[in-house]
Amino acid sequence: MYEEFLAEYPAYRTTTHLDALRANDYLRLDAHGVVYLDYTGACLHADSQVLRHAALLASRVLGNPHSASPASLNSTALVEGARRAVLEWFNAAGDYTAIFTANATGALKHVGESYPFAPGGRLLLSVDNHNSVNGIREFARAHGAAVAYAPLTVPELRLDAARLDARLGECDRGASNLFAFPAQSNFTGVQHPLELVARAHDHGWDVLLDAAAFVPSNRLDLRAAKPDFVSVSFYKMFGYPTGVGCLLARNETLPKLKRPWFAGGTVNFATVGGHRHVLSPGEAGFEDGTLNYLSIAGVEIGLRHLAAAGIDAIHTRVMCLTGWLLSKLVALCHSNGRPMVRIYGPITPAGRGAIITMNFYDPAGHLVDYRRVEELAGQQGISLRTGCFCNPGPGETAEDITEEDIVAGLEANPGLTLPLFLQMITHRGGKSAGAMRVSFGIASNFADAQRFYEFASTLRDQTRLTIGEATFDIESCRVIRDGS
Ligand SMILES: Cc1ncc(COP(=O)(O)O)c(C=O)c1O
Repeated sequence: MYEEFLAEYPAYRTTTHLDALRANDYLRLDAHGVVYLDYTGACLHADSQVLRHAALLASRVLGNPHSASPASLNSTALVEGARRAVLEWFNAAGDYTAIFTANATGALKHVGESYPFAPGGRLLLSVDNHNSVNGIREFARAHGAAVAYAPLTVPELRLDAARLDARLGECDRGASNLFAFPAQSNFTGVQHPLELVARAHDHGWDVLLDAAAFVPSNRLDLRAAKPDFVSVSFYKMFGYPTGVGCLLARNETLPKLKRPWFAGGTVNFATVGGHRHVLSPGEAGFEDGTLNYLSIAGVEIGLRHLAAAGIDAIHTRVMCLTGWLLSKLVALCHSNGRPMVRIYGPITPAGRGAIITMNFYDPAGHLVDYRRVEELAGQQGISLRTGCFCNPGPGETAEDITEEDIVAGLEANPGLTLPLFLQMITHRGGKSAGAMRVSFGIASNFADAQRFYEFASTLRDQTRLTIGEATFDIESCRVIRDGS
């Protein structure tokens, strides 16, 4: 199988240095026979990153960065070095400010709470967005801005270009308008075109690009793309450290953000008696309290690790694996000829990243319970992800889940959870609320993809893993009721 794969994806041969990296730096995968397929959930850390970080911490006296003592200055030097490295990585030095946060969600919340939403202004969200972006609509609503969604096409689940253009054309140029979309969907892997940034700018919008799922295996050049705000989590890029993310804000647009409060570390001056404060300029005005300075010291180590592996090589490798696995899964059929797998989003590698989200169907076309599939995969040492991945929009579009379905679910159970909704929606309309996702990253190899394919093949002709009466029609890429 490997020889066939290499013949079909010869570019994979250019990435064999990543096999050596896996053998040296991610030894625990093969030592424990683990197939890790959730790089979109979190990248794995290399042993060498942790060792380098430990050596760094052991060699310096590092104090709280908020003062001028030698111990404090040591920490400040490491934090500022990491900041420079981040800006360089994204080709953003001079044009952007890097604001350290706890994670991508922290970066998104900064934009949500500080963007000048007001009546007359707008927030336009892609239906394909992580909930940490969807949540910004609550800030927009609270300040009287109009909130709208740009829909997706079926079955590819890409942004509908014509309807997006119409929405972009609706804004009042004199007001503050924010358009937010992901560079790569964490649900389908679709890569929404970065050219949308310029198109939205032309219509008078500021642009928030959620790059959290894109940057672990794609190069992002901010000087070329020019979004106003960008969110990333470093553990998704190189596994370690957790607890550090970044908001990259374009210097031209950053002054638009008005912080709703101040905190220790964010002010140049604050008085109790005078009820006044003067916010620090630039990143300092956004970095609340004491930064996670020891972990931030690991960010530059992580970036160097990614640079040594080569982001383009990682991209090449994961896209070869994605192309191969997609074609294999699409071809999987039961003995009666019915397809076994439904892929959400594009079924070829063009215009997408290294994420494959799917559901399985039994020989009668009934939806297989993805929680059971996850359990079976776990028994084989395969780690993957199930649910809606905090991104409900693409699944709702693909399954035609309506507001009526959701209201019925909430009325039946005000404390609704995804598993409960899955049960309800399957019985109500034969639809699925959730799926399973595999994703590749820096330490992935062909054996990982093959092990998943072999596992998927074991579901052929199995009949006892279904929920409800869902039937999947491969022609229309829709779930239909039995007999409809
Ligand atoms: C596209 C996307 N955006 C945002 C996030 C939120 O990241 P974090 O949980 O690190 O804040 C994720 C996490 O899965 C993601 O995939």
